[in-house]
Amino acid sequence: MNYADVCVLILAAGKGTRMHSEKPKVLQELLATPMLDYIYSALHFLPEENIFTVIGHKAEDIEKKFSHKTAENFILQNEQLGTGHALQCSWDKIRGSKAKYCLVINGDTPLITQDILEFFMEESFKKLPQLDITFITTVLKDVAAFGRVVRKNNKLQAIIEAKDYDENIYQKPSGEINAGIYLLKTACLEDILFQLENKNKNGEYYITDLIGHAAQKNMQVDGIVCEESAALLGINSPKELIFAEEILQKEIIEKHLANNVFIHQKEQVRIAPHVQIAAGVHIFGPCEIYGNTQISSACTISSHCHIENCIIEKNCTIDSFSHLHDAKLENNCSVGPYARLRPESILAEDAKIGNFVEIKKSNIGKGSKVNHFSYIGDSTLETDVNIGAGTITCNYDGNNKSKTVIKKGAFIGSNSSLVAPVIIGENTRIGAGSVITNDVPDNHLAITRAEQKNIPRK
Ligand code: UD1
Ligand code: MG
Repeated sequence: MNYADVCVLILAAGKGTRMHSEKPKVLQELLATPMLDYIYSALHFLPEENIFTVIGHKAEDIEKKFSHKTAENFILQNEQLGTGHALQCSWDKIRGSKAKYCLVINGDTPLITQDILEFFMEESFKKLPQLDITFITTVLKDVAAFGRVVRKNNKLQAIIEAKDYDENIYQKPSGEINAGIYLLKTACLEDILFQLENKNKNGEYYITDLIGHAAQKNMQVDGIVCEESAALLGINSPKELIFAEEILQKEIIEKHLANNVFIHQKEQVRIAPHVQIAAGVHIFGPCEIYGNTQISSACTISSHCHIENCIIEKNCTIDSFSHLHDAKLENNCSVGPYARLRPESILAEDAKIGNFVEIKKSNIGKGSKVNHFSYIGDSTLETDVNIGAGTITCNYDGNNKSKTVIKKGAFIGSNSSLVAPVIIGENTRIGAGSVITNDVPDNHLAITRAEQKNIPRK
């Protein structure tokens, strides 16, 4: 089929009451990545300008999280009156897109894949060349709270929601359920979309009622049965989320193993979907690697590390219990154990950050070392600087943040405080225990502590 004819509507306005959380459901995270992100990834093969998302509950949080998306493609459903109402609120956009078909996806189905969506659309046209409505179904032993597909003599009649299902009327459920993914001919919606009513136990307008309406009007409507798969199951509760997350975790680990990454103790390694890791890298669990992190060849990440949105170039070592966030490491750096790199920390080649060191918004020059118990914030360290144990850059005076510059080859004695703004010149030495408040010229020794007196005891 021609994908240019398809627009997409993601239903993401619901509160997700069953999640017991203030967060909108589609922002709930699996491997530190929001559900909605997974849906967008699965839709990459369709034209982005035709992908619409209905939002409502805490809409601004969703727009903020996905601020890189076109704002006009978010559709507001002010009151969440049901999935059918969400579709009604989107009707102008759908019609305006001029797409012949609309693929509707529940936003709480993050394990869905491009393969399944393509299979579904192809099968839809094979089965019903003139289709009006198709939707994905699957057969489960336990139909749980899913909408149940009702057929009579194999002919599709309706989808009935669990709460409204009466075995006396519809007979025992067959096991076939609605996965919440629909392909709708837009021309057919025109006739039936605004006929939806909310006369059901929830008092909501159900998208699923469109199926009954279409069947009654003898439209071309059918369920496309897909093999049972976790990818088709909507997430409505913490338990379902954790179950889905475990499946995803295994899939991602398998993908990296297949790419020749060494993942030791793999059950305890959590890697987010967009992370890139080169072949030959060693990762030891337990360990978490999230966001858009990239790890190049010959690196080792030891256990208990948390790494998010970092670029780690070749041959770097991250020792245990280190926490890295939005940092960049050039080749041959070593970090940890017990180090913390906060956003905008950039380590040039051969830099070394040791135990109990925190770096924030700072450049650490080539070959420079901060080996023990230090805080370096809003600073620039040029090449071959050595920072003694316990050195602190005092970057904050309670109102303003100020910068520290430490030039080439400077040696800062242990337990010094560098009160910013301050410039420490090339090849300077700072005597241990000094509090430096003024700039130090190149090639000087600066020392501020009181001279030692040895006074005989009485
Ligand atoms: C829905 C289907 C059910 C199906 C199941 C599959 C309906 C009525 N039922 O049930 O047949 O088996 O999905 O997982 O559709 N949403 C809105 N606006 C609203 C209400 C919901 O955008 O007013 C969004 C939600 O954010 C969610 C999606 O629609 O992403 C589905 O809503 P949810 O409440 O999870 O429906 P289910 O009870 O799971
Ligand atoms: Mg659901």
